[in-house]
Amino acid sequence: MQYKYRSLIVAATLLCACTQDAGKDDSYDPAHDYFSFARTDQFITDHLALDLRVDFEMRELRGSVSLDMRRLEPEAKEIVLDTRDLSVSNAQVELPDGSFVPAEFRFGEQDDVMGTPLIVSLPATADVASEFRLVIDYATSPRSTALQWLPAELTAGSEQPMMFSQSQAIHARSWVPLQDTPAVRVTYEAVIQTPPELLAVMSASNELPVVRDGEYSFDMPQPIPAYLLAIAVGNFYFAPLGETTGVYTEPELLDASVYEFADTQAMLEQAESLFGPYEWGRYDLLVLPPSFPYGGMENPRLSFITPSLLAGDRSLVSVIAHELAHSWSGNLVTNATWRDGWLNEGMTSYLESRLMEVIYDKDRVDEERVLGYRELLLDFESVPPAMQALAPRLDKGDPDDFQGTIHYHKGQLFLQYLENAFGRDAFDEFLGAYFDEFAFRTITTERFLDYLDEKLLQAEGSAVTRAEAEQWLYKPGLPDDAPIPYSLSLDAAEAVATAWAEGKIDAGEIPIATWSPQATVHFINSLPADLAADRLSELDQVLGLSDTRNAEIGRTWFIQVAKRRHTAAYEMLEQHLNRYGRGRLIYPVYLALAENGADRELAQTMFESARSAYHPLIDAGIARALKESEQ
Ligand code: BES
Ligand code: ZN
Repeated sequence: MQYKYRSLIVAATLLCACTQDAGKDDSYDPAHDYFSFARTDQFITDHLALDLRVDFEMRELRGSVSLDMRRLEPEAKEIVLDTRDLSVSNAQVELPDGSFVPAEFRFGEQDDVMGTPLIVSLPATADVASEFRLVIDYATSPRSTALQWLPAELTAGSEQPMMFSQSQAIHARSWVPLQDTPAVRVTYEAVIQTPPELLAVMSASNELPVVRDGEYSFDMPQPIPAYLLAIAVGNFYFAPLGETTGVYTEPELLDASVYEFADTQAMLEQAESLFGPYEWGRYDLLVLPPSFPYGGMENPRLSFITPSLLAGDRSLVSVIAHELAHSWSGNLVTNATWRDGWLNEGMTSYLESRLMEVIYDKDRVDEERVLGYRELLLDFESVPPAMQALAPRLDKGDPDDFQGTIHYHKGQLFLQYLENAFGRDAFDEFLGAYFDEFAFRTITTERFLDYLDEKLLQAEGSAVTRAEAEQWLYKPGLPDDAPIPYSLSLDAAEAVATAWAEGKIDAGEIPIATWSPQATVHFINSLPADLAADRLSELDQVLGLSDTRNAEIGRTWFIQVAKRRHTAAYEMLEQHLNRYGRGRLIYPVYLALAENGADRELAQTMFESARSAYHPLIDAGIARALKESEQ
């Protein structure tokens, strides 16, 4: 993601002096969502009801949405909704007596990132009350950026097609016309018609026991932002993981998923004792095919998960801890705009590490902390300084990929810094009160800062000043007193890399069998730049790196293979690019190949043959990144 930025770095660095203090810039309103057309000062949606038919032949959802709206400005007559690639056939207002009045509608000007505003005029003939229902008949396009329509051959079972959504950040508008901004929270209900042999699931309560009859109803009684609307339809079956947790996936992946995610119930219970009550009823997972673009997506009650976590040894389940932790940071207390994304992702990365410490042990988490820190340092090399703030100025570009993983790792470090400064007990108390205070609300970075100030910074003897907190939030890089994660076991793996590279030990003496996958990742990243090809081949042969089942080890190894032009492993590298569709696992491999000075065309060729299996967002992202790397 951060890679898209390279060509912009120079220009942005020149600009950064005037944009560093994003939160204080006069012309910029940090509380405004620049990625939605909705006029939330005029109208607010409280509830929506979907009635949709899933058509695999046409690759479309067709039906209606009913939006229960409130008018905040008595004179306001036009409702602006977000859409992208939707066709709308009818709009009506339902009056309190149950009758319908047609409403005129038109599309505004299309924007490449934001889509197209749909402007609905409230009918002058009807005396529309301050609360009313707007009903829109519409259909999605096969190009919907949120939806991937998978032919049977891209599923594990190869017999039934599948469809799933990914609404974050601003893709809900490509399958539902709505106010697509986290500033608005809605409860929702849905009736979904599918081919009778398939099962529909949503980020809502799924009826249990499930009757597979092609008509499914859902209810989400807690108010959620639009980016958490989610749907998937496929040959899904369910297996319980614990009393209130379980997993949906294709039958072919069910046993492996039950094994890999066996700790989910324990995670949920620990999370409740650390962060406060879990507000969403059940917590289930949906394990999707490899083209799912992310590691996981925190759709409420039902996290969507990449199958690349199925390593067979539970070594990658910090992603589950992460998505679960979003049930507090993100789903319960939500970032006001994408510029405040660190409130979701940084806070969640911190909670994830706390949870992992309890479920597993501190050494394992320290390893992950160090790997995260290393990724952060890499991001600082490619992200323009103005975008290195936790809460940068964000009013253009694409909110999906504006600053790599800075929100995650720098955000996590900031909270770790606060924990260190105030002590774990006091900080835990703060977090509990924070989730309680802002539950089911949407907040800006500035609201967080004021709350932090009031509860901790102003307390007598406070170890942190407001200015210090502001430095984290509004300045690039890291403050001098930022905590630096440290792991003895990773240090040891690094020392082994050096010893082997210097010929002091043989490849056979590398104790890889005793290492965690994280240590192996660190070992690979610690190899010196100037290793000869035959030495890399030797390493690969002895350690079996190209054959790894672990997606993170594969990612790390094939980035190095590409950077070093280790052509002996290119066939396996291509297999990696065909096996996975998760952006994190493949983007950097393509980019390393395209930028190694010799293999840009090869990267393009490999992409052409792999891309039909990728998610539309990943496909577009890689196409753009490869194009940019041409220049
Ligand atoms: N909410 C994110 C995924 C996301 C972020 C989608 C921004 C669209 C825009 C999810 O919780 C996430 O962070 N996934 C990570 C997992 C990881 C950091 C443990 C991923 O996919 O790699
Ligand atoms: Zn996340």
